[in-house]
Amino acid sequence: MEQKKRLLYITRKEHFNAAHKLYNPNWSDEQNEAVFGKCANRNWHGHNFDLYVTVKGYPDPETGFIIDLKVLKTIIEEHVIEKLDHRNINMDVDFMQGKMASIENIAVGIWDQIEPHLEGCQLHSIKLWETRNNYVEYFGE
Ligand code: NI
Repeated sequence: MEQKKRLLYITRKEHFNAAHKLYNPNWSDEQNEAVFGKCANRNWHGHNFDLYVTVKGYPDPETGFIIDLKVLKTIIEEHVIEKLDHRNINMDVDFMQGKMASIENIAVGIWDQIEPHLEGCQLHSIKLWETRNNYVEYFGE
């Protein structure tokens, strides 16, 4: 009997702490303050970020896995967490240089750090929680 191919999604959750500020250097201090409020504070502020990395694929018939979660964990640690955790996102993080340190841009940067390293499955989404109330999702478009 032919087996139905089943597409599944699996998620690894990670965590990092980092500082940033939202500040557009092309604007006056007043304009930055008006648009970004407390987030423009020149002496930075921090967040406890929660990161959800979801990949999709067909389980390997030998292992039953879409991806070995140990492999996914290592990719995220090496290419994302080690670069972001306990860092200043504006100043210390190579893949954020020259960009506004919004969660939108951080999520896109994280996508680009992980996507080239996946084999046998596809990156589906990056979900990044910045506060208890705010998160962003990116699906690669
Ligand atoms: Ni912030």
